[in-house]
Amino acid sequence: MRLDKYLAQSSIGRRKAVRGFIKEEKVKVNGQLEIIPATEIDEFSDTIEYLDEIVEHIGNVYYMFHKPSGCITARSDANDKTVLDYFEEVNTNGLFPVGRLDKDTEGLLFLTNDGEFNHRLMYPDKHVNKTYFFWAFGSLSEEQRHQLEEGITIEEGEPLTKQAKVEVIKSGLFASLKDEIDGDKYEKVKKNRDVQSVVAGYITISEGRKHQVKRMLRAMGCYVIYLKRISIGDVVLDKALEK
Ligand code: URA
Repeated sequence: MRLDKYLAQSSIGRRKAVRGFIKEEKVKVNGQLEIIPATEIDEFSDTIEYLDEIVEHIGNVYYMFHKPSGCITARSDANDKTVLDYFEEVNTNGLFPVGRLDKDTEGLLFLTNDGEFNHRLMYPDKHVNKTYFFWAFGSLSEEQRHQLEEGITIEEGEPLTKQAKVEVIKSGLFASLKDEIDGDKYEKVKKNRDVQSVVAGYITISEGRKHQVKRMLRAMGCYVIYLKRISIGDVVLDKALEK
């Protein structure tokens, strides 16, 4: 295995960072300084040191996280709790979230130390489907649902959205459906909305533009009040996994 891969998998840092550490002469292999990141090492018999401490090989790790609303998808933040704050019991060196969910979006988020896994899931050309459940103020006609599926221009100058799948599962007046919307979503819903229409459904997209689902629905006159990612590719958020 390459030395830089071994160090990245051992949570010393991302691949780019560990290459720097190697060049800065912070890494030894069997007691010898090693400055070439591509050096082949034997992960079972060689002794690798970083700043004179032996580096245990952790390998790649993959976590399924049920993100609650209110935390930021980042490694650190000056003001808010981040997803990494939920990983206090594990070694978080090198661990990072795959993609991004908005602060108020819940649901499936992977965390890993595997940059290639991140690339395979997030690189736009890979077209990995992500499915979200939403509640929104407004209504979606069959025509609008079809437009969303075929592709829309969210904002002038932006390319058409790629083909999507949209399923409406409920629509009606807020007064009659509000009990089905989870408690904490009410906080951002102002009073006197009872006579407004709400719609719930699933939307599957294969891109990852900023606030994409909210902006796509907004373009159809729907204001998202609750968003939860329920699957990425074939992986569905485990129903038994608490937020
Ligand atoms: N689309 C959004 O608008 N927000 C998210 O968090 C994810 C997808």
